[in-house]
Amino acid sequence: MTGVTAFVEGWDFVQTLGEGAYGEVKLAVSSTTDEAIAVKIINLKRIPQAEENVKKEVCVHKMLNHKNIIKFYGFRKDDNIQYIFLEYAIGGELFDRIEPDVGMPEADASRFFKQLISGVEYLHSRGVTHRDLKPENLLLDDFDNLKISDFGLATVFRYQGRERLMEKCCGTVPYVAPEVISRKPYPAEPADIWSCGIILVALLAGELPWDEPTYGCEEYCNWKDCKITLSPWKKINTLALSLLRKVFVENVKKRRTIDEIKNHPWYNKNFNKNKGSMNNCSSSPSDSPCGTGPFKRICSGINMSPTKFKSDSDTLQICSSQPELPPIPMKGQSSNEVDLGPVISFSQPLHPDHMLLSSQVQGTPGSCSQNPMQRLGRRMTRFFVKTDKNETLTEMDRIFESLGYAFRRSSPGITTVNLKDRRGMPLVFKACLLEMGENLLLDFRLSKGDGLQFKRQFMEVKNLMKKISCKVPQFHSVFPSNKPS
Ligand code: ADE
Repeated sequence: MTGVTAFVEGWDFVQTLGEGAYGEVKLAVSSTTDEAIAVKIINLKRIPQAEENVKKEVCVHKMLNHKNIIKFYGFRKDDNIQYIFLEYAIGGELFDRIEPDVGMPEADASRFFKQLISGVEYLHSRGVTHRDLKPENLLLDDFDNLKISDFGLATVFRYQGRERLMEKCCGTVPYVAPEVISRKPYPAEPADIWSCGIILVALLAGELPWDEPTYGCEEYCNWKDCKITLSPWKKINTLALSLLRKVFVENVKKRRTIDEIKNHPWYNKNFNKNKGSMNNCSSSPSDSPCGTGPFKRICSGINMSPTKFKSDSDTLQICSSQPELPPIPMKGQSSNEVDLGPVISFSQPLHPDHMLLSSQVQGTPGSCSQNPMQRLGRRMTRFFVKTDKNETLTEMDRIFESLGYAFRRSSPGITTVNLKDRRGMPLVFKACLLEMGENLLLDFRLSKGDGLQFKRQFMEVKNLMKKISCKVPQFHSVFPSNKPS
């Protein structure tokens, strides 16, 4: 959302982390303490029922406290804008770690899957179902620990020991269980477990098994017919396949439960420590305290006193037991928001190093690579270019045209691409030219559609732009506090 005028005093909105139908998530960094949080910004006017939905999201999310779930810090409303303050997951989205059509090392997939199951088990123990589990909603912290995020579709299915069935058909079609689209009431827990199975396929094979779990879908029928010599199954070993066989069971009573999944041999397999890319790391403690990077994370272990906001707004609410945040002003005061000018300019930050994702400037134990640039290259849908603004945009246009992309430039720095993916579903992403000190960065961000399909497009574009791209910035001044050696 460009042109956001309301903001949080003492917190600079430095970057957009993600966007969706609801609005945007921005990174906010405290100008005094360097603490970083994510702020979900929802325009209540834009979507009917947004207010109701946000209330529910807040109500559900504030009940949750688990190491594999994004922490909820609080919320406030300002005119028609709703802000939700969340733990900032420095490592970005899990789908950034999935190589399209390949996946990731099995050891890494096993570790992420276990953390996912741990988070979902906790959710279910609290009587909450997420209803939209997919890699785009799984974020990573600076130790590569998985964090379930986005409780926009979550709901309570068990309250005071009494369970209710779900009726709404909701979620993201390739990830939903057959009963969700059956138009009959269905139990909540098995539907989330099915989505976990689809996520496991994405981790192990870098593709989704089918568009939808219906008999009109050839890939789904092939799976039902045990045609495992086809993709993605041929990329997955028999032990993992045997687990998936037990998860993708239409009869919800026969589908494996979380306890049963945890007893499966694949789940308990001890992967060779040296094989997974992350296992070379010196540590990746899932319950470790705050990271050591330039952005101190706000952790539940600090500033635990119940928070009183010095805010003019009495609509602000915050959970006790959440960390203390600086006061929030009313709109109209100056902000350090990096807004979308002719080219998004990162040239005047309050703190230049705030303009970088910390993953770009730190080599935490969880990051594996000692060189922050390598880490950037490995996991981000972005790259530096060695050409100037005009040359970069000309080259990008040429490549987009050669790929037959429909695209438009909303401002000189932002190009929106509108495609249909190979499933015929809309795929919309933005290519933003970011000025970072003396360097130019091309940042690609998914606006709508499947994350894996987006990643495929990004890889294709990146490959075609090889001539003008560079792995590391030309001018190191962009990393003021952590120059590469
Ligand atoms: N994208 C969406 N939500 C996020 C969060 N909490 N942290 C980092 N990136 C995000």
